[in-house]
Amino acid sequence: MDIVLLEGDITTRNVDAVVNAANSSLLGGGGVDGAIHRAAGPELLQACRALRRTDYPDGLPVGQAAATEGFNLPARWVIHTVGPNALAGETDPELLRQAFTNSLDVALQLGASTVAFPAISAGVYGWDADDVARTAVQAVRNHPGTGIERVEFVLFSEPVAQAFRTALESRD
Ligand code: APR
Repeated sequence: MDIVLLEGDITTRNVDAVVNAANSSLLGGGGVDGAIHRAAGPELLQACRALRRTDYPDGLPVGQAAATEGFNLPARWVIHTVGPNALAGETDPELLRQAFTNSLDVALQLGASTVAFPAISAGVYGWDADDVARTAVQAVRNHPGTGIERVEFVLFSEPVAQAFRTALESRD
């Protein structure tokens, strides 16, 4: 499994699955969630509402992941996951690790071979970029991932990109 760092807008990535840093409501928001919904179009919200009516009537729990089509995105699927919110006291790295690991599990179930991740929880949810980068890189490196050829981390700012470069260079 190749791990690639890119700087830019994740909605433009032509990969099998783009991971969305959603919230438990699955009904959209700001940040990457807002960007993905804008780029995917209104059908994405309809698909998320269907997830709420069926599999997740109480919302998507922190650390879990669920897929929809990508609609107008170049990506075929969107994997929605909810990162821990440091501002709500959710500071357990295990929750963040689960968000990455469960997203990869869903990608495997879909048959996706290329997956793009944002820096989950490093924005509105207030996690330190270095902690996110370390957890994300470890989660991807430790995932069996057989069948996934490439994982991209698509970063939206230089400081976060630097945090991921540093995490990738370390072998811990
Ligand atoms: N492409 C890639 N990365 C992006 C993009 C984009 N288009 N837009 C924002 N980002 C980056 C942010 O700069 C940050 O580094 O994604 C990272 C995650 O930030 P958020 O999108 O704020 O996600 P998160 O911190 O997990 O907070 C989730 O914010 O948008 C709401 O509905 C969302 O309530 C949820 C919460």
